[in-house]
Amino acid sequence: MAKISVLGTGYVGLVTAACFNRLGHEVIGYDVLDDKIETLKRGESPIYEPGLEDLLKQGLEDGTMTFTTDMETAIRGSDVLFVCVGTPQGQDGRADLSQVEAVARTIASHLDGFKLIVEKSTVPVKTAQRMRETIARYNKSGSGFAVASNPEFLREGSAIGDFMNPDRIVIGVEDDRAREMMLDLYSGLDCAKLVVDLETAEIIKHASNSFLALKISYINMVSELCDVVGADVEKVAEGMGLDERISASFLRAGIGYGGSCFPKDVRAFQRIAEDHGVNFDLLRETDEINNRRIDVVTRKLQDLIWVLRGKTIAFWGLAFKPDTDDVREAPSLRLAKVLLDEGAIIRGWDPEAQETFQYALGPNDQVTYHDTPEAAAAGADAVVVVTDWPQLLDVDLVQLAGTMATPTIVDGRNHLDPDACRAAG
Ligand code: UGA
Repeated sequence: MAKISVLGTGYVGLVTAACFNRLGHEVIGYDVLDDKIETLKRGESPIYEPGLEDLLKQGLEDGTMTFTTDMETAIRGSDVLFVCVGTPQGQDGRADLSQVEAVARTIASHLDGFKLIVEKSTVPVKTAQRMRETIARYNKSGSGFAVASNPEFLREGSAIGDFMNPDRIVIGVEDDRAREMMLDLYSGLDCAKLVVDLETAEIIKHASNSFLALKISYINMVSELCDVVGADVEKVAEGMGLDERISASFLRAGIGYGGSCFPKDVRAFQRIAEDHGVNFDLLRETDEINNRRIDVVTRKLQDLIWVLRGKTIAFWGLAFKPDTDDVREAPSLRLAKVLLDEGAIIRGWDPEAQETFQYALGPNDQVTYHDTPEAAAAGADAVVVVTDWPQLLDVDLVQLAGTMATPTIVDGRNHLDPDACRAAG
């Protein structure tokens, strides 16, 4: 079993640490943030991800998982280093790689024997090569090392299951030693393992996320046409998805995609292509279509209840998708800003993301928060389904209609049964 350090315990890092530990490896989690490491040492997860806390507690209890704010301890205590630090989007859409570069330099200064350094964060193509060059430049001890690229395909909300039962594992390496070490790490998982060069692995990640986002924007454009001609986009998606070349997944039309990955990755991939002289306007359009989804929802509200100033709109769901408290690039935030600018009042409900939303939006006395979807909708002029939380399907629509000022629902996720809504008035 390997000794692994995970550098950066954000979303990807924490899940990676917990799951490798579950696969039997010894894991050290490092982060620069004291508070976060203290929380983790208590076996508490700083993020909401089903199943994660149980894994953390187990690893801490049997002593095979530890946490530190000292990167030197993490580097010296392991043979494989997973780089999971943030790669935030810079102003021009390109990824800001300063954290990756800083980690590479620190690794170089503490190398004490052969180590495999694995890039896990989503990064532009050629980053692993840059990391190798940087580590070589600052490597005073002359210790051997290799770099690898091992992109993750985890979805928030089902990340543990995605890690343990992946469709595929992509491994980018430059030599046999790194290849064998990587394959050993994943020997407990039975799935397709694609071993490629570094650049190919890096492109696979961006190309996969961008393609899924493209699929969503595509069906959203189709839905605009469906709205105009009176066709049912759900059925259109079903009809398309029955063709196994197309597949039904990621063809759910609605208010658009959000989260920390798709919006950022689509823009980054488009910039990467541009930086290499390749025109990828298809992705610019993907992004623009997604941004326009907020206007589509706003227009639907205006068509139904006309002037928005002074009107009360209930938000059913604030998270960018169910089973997470994440509101990064969430449609809820973008819609809230537009509606507040129009002078509307918002009553929000979300079982997990209320605090994160409140923090991201900032204080605003036009926004209140409620414990149930029904409470949020009470007295409202309209409800917008922003997140497809399963508990919304249990709402008694007949009762709901009686408590709203005007019983109006804009279903931004095609989540509720439209016939049941109509029947309830
Ligand atoms: C996404 C990818 O699915 C993962 O494979 C990848 O590892 C991850 O990004 C990442 O790069 O880290 P995630 O952002 O967690 O995962 O969420 P998804 O389930 O992919 O959903 C993204 C957004 O698309 C959500 O806002 C969701 O509501 C929306 N969506 C999804 C749709 O609007 N329609 C669909 O048909 C599917």
